[in-house]
Amino acid sequence: MKRFRQHLLICGGTGCHAAGSADVRTALQNEIKKQGLADEVAVVETGCNGFCAMGPVAVVYPGGTFYVSLTIDDVPELVQEHFLKGRPVERLMYKEPASKDIIPDMKDIPFFAHQQLIALRNRGLLDAESIDEYIARDGYRALAKALTEMSPQDIVNEVKKSGLRGRGGGGFPTGLKWEFCQRTPGEIKYVLCNADEGDPGAFMDRSILEADPHSVIEGMTIAAKAIGAHHGFVYCRAEYPLAIERLKLAIEKATEYGLLGDNILDTGFSFNLQIYQGAGAFVCGEETALMRSIEGKRGMPRPRPPFPAVKGLYDKPTVLNNVETWANVAPIIIKGGDWYASIGTAGSKGTKVFALTGHVNNIGLVEVPMGTSLRTIIYDIGGGMPKKHRKFKAVQLGGPSGGCVPEQYLDLPCDYEEIIKAGAIMGSGGMIVMDDSTCMVDMARFFMEFVQDESCGKCTPCREGTRRMLQILEKICEGRGEMSDLDLLEELAAMIKDSALCGLGQTGPNPVLSTLRYFRDEYVAHIVDKKCPARTCVNLIEFRVDEALCKKCGQCFKACPVGAISWEKKQPAKIDLTKCIKCKTCIENCKFDAIV
Ligand SMILES: Cc1cc2nc3c(=O)[nH]c(=O)nc-3n(C[C@H](O)[C@H](O)[C@H](O)COP(=O)(O)O)c2cc1C
Ligand code: SF4
Ligand code: SF4
Ligand code: SF4
Ligand code: FES
Repeated sequence: MKRFRQHLLICGGTGCHAAGSADVRTALQNEIKKQGLADEVAVVETGCNGFCAMGPVAVVYPGGTFYVSLTIDDVPELVQEHFLKGRPVERLMYKEPASKDIIPDMKDIPFFAHQQLIALRNRGLLDAESIDEYIARDGYRALAKALTEMSPQDIVNEVKKSGLRGRGGGGFPTGLKWEFCQRTPGEIKYVLCNADEGDPGAFMDRSILEADPHSVIEGMTIAAKAIGAHHGFVYCRAEYPLAIERLKLAIEKATEYGLLGDNILDTGFSFNLQIYQGAGAFVCGEETALMRSIEGKRGMPRPRPPFPAVKGLYDKPTVLNNVETWANVAPIIIKGGDWYASIGTAGSKGTKVFALTGHVNNIGLVEVPMGTSLRTIIYDIGGGMPKKHRKFKAVQLGGPSGGCVPEQYLDLPCDYEEIIKAGAIMGSGGMIVMDDSTCMVDMARFFMEFVQDESCGKCTPCREGTRRMLQILEKICEGRGEMSDLDLLEELAAMIKDSALCGLGQTGPNPVLSTLRYFRDEYVAHIVDKKCPARTCVNLIEFRVDEALCKKCGQCFKACPVGAISWEKKQPAKIDLTKCIKCKTCIENCKFDAIV
C-alpha cells in the first residue's frame, strides 16, 4: 500500500459541495501534481465534518491543521506554503468570532473540542467511498463478532444493556424493540432503516449516510442476525442523491467483500439490503406509512397495534430504526453495552447528534453526551449569538413536533426526560436558536403551516383542526386576532393531540402550545396592542423611524434597496412610505431598534 507524507482531507459533504469543494479538490490535486508532490501528499475527499457553515473545510494530517472557507484562488498559496515549505497558512485558518484569535488545530476549535463522537466517529476521517478505509478504522469488526461469537440473544442483551433509545424521535428502547421482533415467530422478517429525515433543519441522517454509509449497513446486519431477518431496506428521500449514491456503492462493496448478501463471512448467515427512494413527504417518516410506501401504496399511517415488530412490512415482523440509531450499534457490540451506558444520564444513554442552526455563530452538526446543557451546546460549541446587539430568546427543539425553550432553561441538561419537562421534545435533534428578533407567534405559524401542508388528510382532527389553527395564527399575525382566539387555539390543540391517528397530528400543536406557555405576552401584544414586538409581522409594523431611539448612524439608509430612506449626517433617518416595499432590511440593519 502506498504511503504518503501528508494527507489533506477535504470535505465533500453536501454543504461543502454547495460551497464549491469539488472544484477546490480538483485544484488541489492539480497544484500538488504541478509542485511534484503527488507521491508525498494525498488528497482524500471525506463526508461532512459537521462544520458546514465554514465550508469548504479541509484538515491536514499529521498535525490536524484545519482550513476553512477555501476557494480555488487559495490553492496555489496553500500548496506552496503548507506542503512545499512547511508553513501553515494562517489566513485560511479558523478565527474565533469574538476574539479573532486564530486556532490552527481542529481539536482546539471549541466547536469540535466539546464533542464526543460515537455515531459520527468516522466523520471527516475517511473516504466514504472506500470500504477499505472503513475496515481500517475497525469497520465490520462488530459484525464479525456478532456473527461468530454471539448468539441472537447475546446481541439483543448487549443492546438492551447499552440503554440505546431510538434517535428518530420517539426514543423507544432499541434492544426491547429487537427483542419483541425476535420473539415473534415468522420465517420472513425485515430490518428497515428510516432515512426519510423530514424535520426542517435536520440533516444528521443525510450526513451519516454521506460520510459513513457502512456504519449503517453494519448496524442493520447485526440486527438482522439478532431477529433472524434476511432482507432489509433503507428508506431514503430522493432529495438526498449523494447519500443514495454513496449508500448504493457501499452496499455493492460490502456484498463484494462478503460482508453483506449470501453467506456473510462464511458463517452461513445471509442478509440482502436494498434502497427504497421516498418522494419526500414528512408523513412517510412515520413507521407504518413508511412501510406502506415501500409496499408501493400511498404513504398513510395506520392505527397501532399491531406494532411493526409483530406485523410490519408486508405484514411480516419488522424492526425499523433511524439512521443515527443504526450508526450506534457497531460501537456498542465492540465496546459493550456497559461502556455505552456509562455515557449520558440515568434515562438517556450515550450521545445525541444535534443539527444546530439559526441565530448562532457555528452552525453545524454537533454530537454530545446526553445531558449536556443547552448553554454548552449553544455558547461553547455554537459560539453564541452572531449579532452582538441581539439577545438569546429561545431555542426550538424537536422540529414541528417539538417546542421552544426560553432563556431560563439554558442550563437544562439535554436528555429525553428533561426536554419533555420543559415543554419540547428531543425529536430527531433539530435545534434552532432564536434571538430577540424572532417573533414567537410567527414561528408557531411557520410550524403549523408545515404540519398543515404535510398532513396526509386521513383523519379529520388533523386535516381540519390544523387548518383551523393555522387560520387563527395567520389572523393574529395580520393584526385581526381576538383574545378568545387564544382559548380556541388551546382547545383545538388539545382535541387534535387527543384524537389524531398518528404522531404528526398528535404532536403538531406542540410549537403553538409551548409558545403560548412561555410567550403569551407576545400573542397579547399582537391582539391587543396590534404590535409585533420582534417586528416580524409586516402588517403590524409602521415602518417609521422613532426619532427618540434613532442614533443617526445611517445604516438603514445604506441598506434600503429601493431608496425609500432619506438621511443626512447627524440627522435622524426618515422613511418614505410611498416608496417602501416593506422588505424589513432596514429593521435588520438598525442596531438600535429605532424602526417601529
Ligand atoms: C410524522 C412522523 C414523521 C417521522 N419522521 C421520521 C423520520 O424522518 N426519521 C425517523 O427516523 N423517524 C421518523 N419518525 C419516527 C418513526 O415513526 C419511528 O418511530 C422511528 O423511525 C423508529 O426508529 P428509532 O426507534 O430508531 O427512532 C416519524 C414519526 C412521525 C409520527
Ligand atoms: S394525524 Fe394527520 S398525518 Fe397522521 S394519519 Fe391523521 S391526517 Fe394523516
Ligand atoms: S439605522 Fe437606526 S439608528 Fe441608524 S439612522 Fe437608521 S433608524 Fe436611525
Ligand atoms: S422596509 Fe425595506 S424598502 Fe422599506 S424602508 Fe426599510 S429597507 Fe427600505
Ligand atoms: S458538508 Fe462539509 S462540513 Fe458539513
